[in-house]
Amino acid sequence: GKKGIVMSGIRSTGMLHLGNYFGAMQNYVRMQEDYDCYFMVADLHTLTTHPDTSELKANVHRVLAENIACGLDPHKVALYCQSHIPETAELYLYLNMLAYKGELEKTTTFKDKARQHPENINAGLLTYPVLMAADILLQRAAYVPVGKDQEQHLEMTRNFANRFNHRYGEVFPEPYAFNFGEQLVKVPSLDGAGKMSKSENQNATIYLADTDDLIRNKIKKAKTDAGPTEPGTPKPDYIENLFALMQLVSQPDTLAQFEKNYNDAAIRYGDMKKQLGEDMVTFIAPIREKAEAIRQDEKYLREVMEMGAEKARKSAQATLEKVREAMGL
Ligand code: ADP
Ligand code: NA
Repeated sequence: GKKGIVMSGIRSTGMLHLGNYFGAMQNYVRMQEDYDCYFMVADLHTLTTHPDTSELKANVHRVLAENIACGLDPHKVALYCQSHIPETAELYLYLNMLAYKGELEKTTTFKDKARQHPENINAGLLTYPVLMAADILLQRAAYVPVGKDQEQHLEMTRNFANRFNHRYGEVFPEPYAFNFGEQLVKVPSLDGAGKMSKSENQNATIYLADTDDLIRNKIKKAKTDAGPTEPGTPKPDYIENLFALMQLVSQPDTLAQFEKNYNDAAIRYGDMKKQLGEDMVTFIAPIREKAEAIRQDEKYLREVMEMGAEKARKSAQATLEKVREAMGL
């Protein structure tokens, strides 16, 4: 048997980047062998911002294709689209009765978004954590592989689950953040500041869809300096970051050679960036090409989503039966 149920939502907006790959996708791929995984492309969540409807399906297809190209196997995990699971709306309604205005208004992401877009503070935005809770609790997940920024939402999910269980009887397990321990890597940005992210400087982020030349150019432009003048000089952050990227995509002996050159104060950053650029291209190109081929195959993507939705709806319906019975409906 599997070690438990895992559920995670994947944003449908924005292209996946190297940080998502090493910080999330790679872990999902490892989990699919041992856990009963439900991975959902979150298209309903994007509706709070009233996006252009013509782009919704294309975004879902792109993110699905990228995830499959990274190694998620639609036969091993339920890979599905949020809007294909109508059961979500029903649980969302029930959970809304257990969510309080005060706690929703205090959510960090709500406060941020409300400040950024005061003209569009809709109820869907306010109850975003309730929809997220519905996604997770429908699958009765025990683990949710989320980053630190989602911990507050997950705690709210546990609160809603507990309130339900206390009021109506035990239906939901309390979901906890999956602890990756040592495996959790932080991929640094190319500009030497902070982590790689889609919202930061585009030139400092390597996307899985970037062309070979774009990748080479971004790495060429990464911040360096004149280099250490004496052996044993500690590395500045932006140089440390280049080595961290090299550790992710280059061969160990390549990394060791440049480490040695640095420690001998004999490093040439031009050479290092050239090597890193080639190794990055070797790493990204097959993923990009595979994703592109999958994205073109709409029939295959439809089959994947149907298969995923079938599995996710089956377990959602079983949960809702328990929910309705507990609530006396
Ligand atoms: P972004 O920061 O680009 O907006 P998200 O917040 O959508 O990315 O994150 C999706 C997943 O990718 C999360 O699990 C997050 O922890 C992971 N992730 C994002 N950026 C990085 C990074 N630079 N290093 C490691 N993991 C990352
Ligand atoms: Na982020």
